[in-house]
Amino acid sequence: MDSSSSTSPRTKVTVPEIAAMKAAGTKIAMLTAYDATFARLVDDAGVDMILVGDSAGMVIAGAGTTLAVDLDEMMYHVRAVARAGPAALIVGDLPFGSYQVGPEQAIESSVRLLKAGSECVKLEGGTSMEQTIAALVRVDIPVVGHIGLTPQSVHRMGGHRVQGRNAGVEAGQRDRLMDDALAVERAGAFSVVIEGVPRSLAAEITAKLTIPTIGIGAGPDCDGQVLVLHDVLGLSDQRFKFAKHYADLRAATMTAAREYVDEVRRGDWPDDEHSFH
Ligand code: KIV
Repeated sequence: MDSSSSTSPRTKVTVPEIAAMKAAGTKIAMLTAYDATFARLVDDAGVDMILVGDSAGMVIAGAGTTLAVDLDEMMYHVRAVARAGPAALIVGDLPFGSYQVGPEQAIESSVRLLKAGSECVKLEGGTSMEQTIAALVRVDIPVVGHIGLTPQSVHRMGGHRVQGRNAGVEAGQRDRLMDDALAVERAGAFSVVIEGVPRSLAAEITAKLTIPTIGIGAGPDCDGQVLVLHDVLGLSDQRFKFAKHYADLRAATMTAAREYVDEVRRGDWPDDEHSFH
C-alpha cells in the first residue's frame, strides 16, 4: 500500500526504522491483527508492527494448526489490515506451502502479499531458508525471519513444543537454533521472530545478532515482543504460559451477548428510542 494513503495521524513506520531500533535501544512492540477494525485499534495504541499472522487459521478460522491456511486467505487478511491505513509496519505472513518449494515460489507468493498491502513478509525457518530469504532480499522484498517454535513445523516438533532446551545441531536443538538465527541474519532479514525457546537462548541470540529479535515465549531479553491479539484481549478460553490477558473480552462479550438475548426474549429490545418514526 502506498504509505501516502495512510489514515493514521502517526508517521509511517518503515523497515529501516525497525532495523535501527535495536541500536537505539528502543524495544519493538508488535501485535497480530487480521482485520481493519482491530488493525486501526492496535495502530492507534502505538504498535510498531502489525503482524498479519497465519495464526489467523487458528484464532479466526478455528483450525488446530496453521497448516491449512493458504495464500488467498492471507491476502484477504492483509488487504483488510492495509485498508485501515496503519502507521505500523504491516508484516504479511507467508503461509505453509507458499514458499517451501523454493526461492522462486517464495518471490511469487511475497509479490502477491505485497500487492495486497503487506510491506514486508515473514517466513519460518533458519538454515534451510537462507537461500530463500537471500533471494527475496535481492529483489527488495524485506523479510522477517521466524525461528524456534515454528508452528508450520508442528508435526516435526510433535506439537507446539518449546524448542532449544537440549544441546545439539538437529532441528529444534539449541546449537542449531543459534545457527538458524545467524543464517537468517546472513541472508539479509531485517529482524527475526524467536518463538518458544528458553530465555537464556533468546538472550544469547539477541546478543549475537545485529538485527532485532522479536520474542514470543522467549523471555524479556529480546529486542521486541509479539503476541497474538486474541490472547492479549483474553478472547480465548485457553491460557498460555507465554501470553498475558491484558483484558477479558471473552467475559465482556459473553455478558453483552447474554444481556442482548435476555432483552430480545423480554421484548425490551429494541425500545422506542432505537426505533424509526
Ligand atoms: O502467525 C502468527 O501470529 C505468528 C506469531 C505467533 C509470531 O507467527
